[in-house]
Amino acid sequence: MSQCPGNPQTIDDVDVFAPETIENWYPTYDLLRKEAPIYHVPDTKTYFLTRYEDIYHVLRKTDIFRRGAGTSRPLISDPEALETFKEGWPKRTILGSNPPDHRRYRDMVDHFFSVIGAEKQTDLITGIVNNLIDNWIDNGEVEYVKSFAEPLPSMVITVMMGFPLEDLENLKVWSEAWVAPFSLQLTPEEERQAARHMVEFQHYIHGHIEQRRESPGEDVITYLVQNPVKLNSETRMLTDTEIINMIDHLYIGGNETTTFALTSGMWLLIQNPKLQNELRDDPKKARSFVEEILRLESPTQGMDRHAAEDTEIAGVKIPKGSHIHIRYAAANRDERQFSCPVDIDIERKNAHRHLAFSLGETHCPGAGLTRLEQKIAVQTILKRMKNFSFSPDKNSFQHHLNFTLRSFTDLHFTFDKI
Ligand code: HEM
Repeated sequence: MSQCPGNPQTIDDVDVFAPETIENWYPTYDLLRKEAPIYHVPDTKTYFLTRYEDIYHVLRKTDIFRRGAGTSRPLISDPEALETFKEGWPKRTILGSNPPDHRRYRDMVDHFFSVIGAEKQTDLITGIVNNLIDNWIDNGEVEYVKSFAEPLPSMVITVMMGFPLEDLENLKVWSEAWVAPFSLQLTPEEERQAARHMVEFQHYIHGHIEQRRESPGEDVITYLVQNPVKLNSETRMLTDTEIINMIDHLYIGGNETTTFALTSGMWLLIQNPKLQNELRDDPKKARSFVEEILRLESPTQGMDRHAAEDTEIAGVKIPKGSHIHIRYAAANRDERQFSCPVDIDIERKNAHRHLAFSLGETHCPGAGLTRLEQKIAVQTILKRMKNFSFSPDKNSFQHHLNFTLRSFTDLHFTFDKI
C-alpha cells in the first residue's frame, strides 16, 4: 500500500489509481519519467508509459500496438449494464478502429472538422461565444464551466450534427454518460445508469438518421446517410450501426474534451495578467496559447493500446497481449522534448508537437474545430473583459475523479466589463 500516492517519493509509493494521484498527476509523471518510464502497474498486465519518445514509438507502430481490448480494467462490467446494451445497436468504435478500414471511415468525416472544414464554422462559433457571454457579462462574476465551457462546444457540435438545440439538456446527459466509464470509478448502479443513457442516445441518433433519409439537411448525419464508404474490400453505403457509432463518437469527442480545455485555459489565463495583456495586444497569439493549454493541461491524459505480438519498448520486453497505457499528458511535460516544460511559453517553437491530440493514424479528427473554438473564446473574452480574479471562497479547484480525462469541476471568477 502506497504511503503518499499524490506525491510519490519512490516507485513503491506510486499508485496510479489513487484519487490523490488523479487529482494531481504531475508529481507521479515526473517520478515515472525519471525512474520507471515503462512502468509495470503492479498486479496488472498494464505498462504505463510517460516519456515522449516511447509514446511516439507506440503511436507510430500501429501494426504492433493496436487499439481495442486495451484498458487495464474493463470500462463497464456490471452484468445488468451489459444486458442493457442489447436493447441498442452493437457498440463498435468505428472511428477508433485499426488500419486499414479505419482511414476510410475517417475520410468520411475529417473534412468537417479539419482546419479548413472548421473555418466554415467561424460565424457559428463567434455568435455562440458572444451570446453566452451576453448572458452573464453584466454580473461581473461567473461560474465558467456551466455558463460557458459546457454550452459552447455542445451547441457547436449539436448544430453541426443537425440535432435541435432544444434537445441540449438530454444530449448533455447522454454525453456525460458516454465519458463517465473512462473514470474507472463507477459503482455498479452508475454503470447501469450510464448503459441506459448510452442506449437512449443510440435510439435518438437512429431517429435522426431515419429523418435525414426522408428530408436531408446540410449536417454530418445527412452526409453519412448519402455517401458511400470506400472500404478496402468494397464500396457501399454505411449501415445504421456504423453511422450511430460514428455520430456518437464525434458528438462526445466534440463535447467534453473541449469543455475541459476551455476551463483549464481560463484557469491558466486568470493567473497570468501579463499574458492577458500580451494576448490582448496581439490576438493572433491566442493560437499559440491554445497549444500551451493543450500541452500543459491535456484534457485526454492517456489512452490504451495492446501489444499484438511480443515486442520491446526502449529495451523493456513487452509480452504479447499486454496493455500499454500511453500517457499523453506526461509526454507533454517531458523535459527531453519541451524545454522548461511547466512554463507557459507562447513563443515555444515546437509547441504544436504536443501529443494532446495523439499522432499519426489516430490523430484527433476534431483538432481543427476545438482549436478554433478555444481561440475564438480566448480572443473574445479578452476583448470584452479584464481584471480577472478567482471568486473568493467559491472555488473547489478540484478535478473530476477521472483516470483518463482531466478537468476542474467548477471555476468561479470575477471580472470587469470592457
Ligand atoms: C481539446 C479537445 C480534444 C482533445 C484533447 C481530443 C483528444 C483526442 C485524442 C488524444 C484522440 C486519440 C485517442 C487515441 O489515442 O486512441 C482523439 C480521437 C478522437 N477525437 Fe478528439 N479530442 C478533442 C476534440 C475533439 C473534437 C472537437 C471532436 C469531434 C468533432 C473529436 C473527436 C474525436 C474522434 C472521433 C476520435 C477518434 C479518432 C480516431 O481514433 O481515428 N475530438 N481525440
